[in-house]
Amino acid sequence: MIRPILIHPDPRLKKLCDPVTEITADLRQLASDMLETMYDAPGIGLAAPQVGVTRRILVMDCIKDGPPEPMVLINPVVLWRSEDLTVYEEGCLSIPDQYADVKRPAEVTVGWIDLDGAEQERQFAGLWATCVQHEIDHLDGRLFIDYLGPLKRQMITRKMEKLKRERAREAADAR
Ligand code: NI
Repeated sequence: MIRPILIHPDPRLKKLCDPVTEITADLRQLASDMLETMYDAPGIGLAAPQVGVTRRILVMDCIKDGPPEPMVLINPVVLWRSEDLTVYEEGCLSIPDQYADVKRPAEVTVGWIDLDGAEQERQFAGLWATCVQHEIDHLDGRLFIDYLGPLKRQMITRKMEKLKRERAREAADAR
């Protein structure tokens, strides 16, 4: 099931998310819905707070060509960051059509729990490294625009407020 994606500003996108304590049928359904929602958007990553669930779970797939590689990361933790930094033009499904350069460690090692409850660890580079850091930020209530200067951030936030007003009006008209 595709779930609606929250648009910034929304208090649920600013919350420190709670760890997942048990892998339940509901959690599996959430992961499946998040992947479906991400592919539908389309996007390369989605964190639970973006669908209104303030739990530490994210999904991603940064494969552009070739067979999909859906990943589900529960309680992800960055274990190591490279000193090398890289700049990517980032976007976010909760901040549609807005992009900005963000500098982050070029490589990271991340540990997490998978849907079978097993511990996993992997080193990410390139787009995967940027994506996993961006999504983990979501679990800490941080958005990519928080890395920008205050003027740029305010400009984007105002655009999103306007977009939300327009969408609310359209929804009201459709009723
Ligand atoms: Ni995002």
